[in-house]
Amino acid sequence: MSTDIISREHEVLFQNYRRLPIELDYGKGSYLYDTSGKKYLDFLSGIAVNALGHSHPKLVDAVVKQAQKSMHVSNFFYQESQVRLAELICELGSYQRVFFSNSGAESFEGAIKIARLWGSKHNKTDIYAFHGGFHGRTYGSLSLMDKAIYRDGMGPFLPNMHVLPFNDIDALHSAINEHTCAVALEFLQGEGGIIHAEPEFINALESLKEQYNFLIIADEVQAGAGRTGSFFYFDKYLIKPDIVVMAKGMGGGLPLGAIVTTDELSKVIEKGMHGTTYGGNALACVAGIVVMEELKNGVQHNAKEMGCYLKDALHEVQKEFSDHIIEIRGCGCMQGIVLKYEASALVTELLKQNIITNATAINVLRLLPPLTISKEEIDEFINGLKISLQSLKQ
Ligand SMILES: Cc1ncc(COP(=O)(O)O)c(C=O)c1O
Repeated sequence: MSTDIISREHEVLFQNYRRLPIELDYGKGSYLYDTSGKKYLDFLSGIAVNALGHSHPKLVDAVVKQAQKSMHVSNFFYQESQVRLAELICELGSYQRVFFSNSGAESFEGAIKIARLWGSKHNKTDIYAFHGGFHGRTYGSLSLMDKAIYRDGMGPFLPNMHVLPFNDIDALHSAINEHTCAVALEFLQGEGGIIHAEPEFINALESLKEQYNFLIIADEVQAGAGRTGSFFYFDKYLIKPDIVVMAKGMGGGLPLGAIVTTDELSKVIEKGMHGTTYGGNALACVAGIVVMEELKNGVQHNAKEMGCYLKDALHEVQKEFSDHIIEIRGCGCMQGIVLKYEASALVTELLKQNIITNATAINVLRLLPPLTISKEEIDEFINGLKISLQSLKQ
């Protein structure tokens, strides 16, 4: 790490991020290299962003070629890259319409606007989300979250927005009625600690939807775009949400998000009602096209297969370290090791083994390797994990 970067950063940047003591230089595949040349196994993927790992040759080639043609032209013009990417998303996700944004929060915000517009036509006002959910840092998102660190002192928030306990069928029944406009959820909570929606809970939600007619918004920003081995995580349930929000992995490293929905619902947004300068930017879209094509060419299958391999290996580690590990959660390339203590201690130990991970929900070690991860790299991770757990034992 160059010696003065910490003091220079302290002088000029907001001090809102807790940084790991590393200055990264470049990445290749599942590995990152710091400025001294030290190699790290990346089990974070830029927080679920680098779906194809680092410097994927097709991704680099597509972005370089596009940059040489034009980087940005604005949404005043027709753009092949937007249309092609939307076609691929509609095919992989089985929806009909896509709106491109730049981030997860922006996608979620747009989904709320669609719900509100739909609700205004049906005389419905209330939107619900769930405890432990994370939807971004904008006011719409924050109004549907309840974690104090993200909200304290920032109110007032948007009206008619409520947070219910997750997986609590009784709470759902008590809250939802004819005024309900939408229910938003991560079917697999990421920041919340890799917690899935129980199938019975989703069944109850669907029955209530039949009774009261509201929209279901799936936040697939973290779990979507193939990360868990299916294109959307909710594909594992028999449900078709009305609106899906995406970002992170879909851009392979470039800022790209999307709202994905039905032909009918897309029509609540009329010309001029919603938009963004950068959304659907050609550079981001050509990257998105490569991600989607690679998902089709076997990367999504790899995420599923390697996810099973990882999970089996983690269960073996759990047996060996039952005094540390409570549970293994998640699937594909989105898994969590639930510990009996704060996960930050294990993140630090793993870093000593040159492995990058992240702690969430206090005691969950979150694993987000690239979807291209190999068996050998998983073995390397498991080896480093065992050494780290062993040293925490002493
Ligand atoms: C499920 C989920 N939704 C929304 C967001 C917000 O995305 P962004 O940080 O791109 O605004 C995140 C980010 O972690 C997320 O995990």
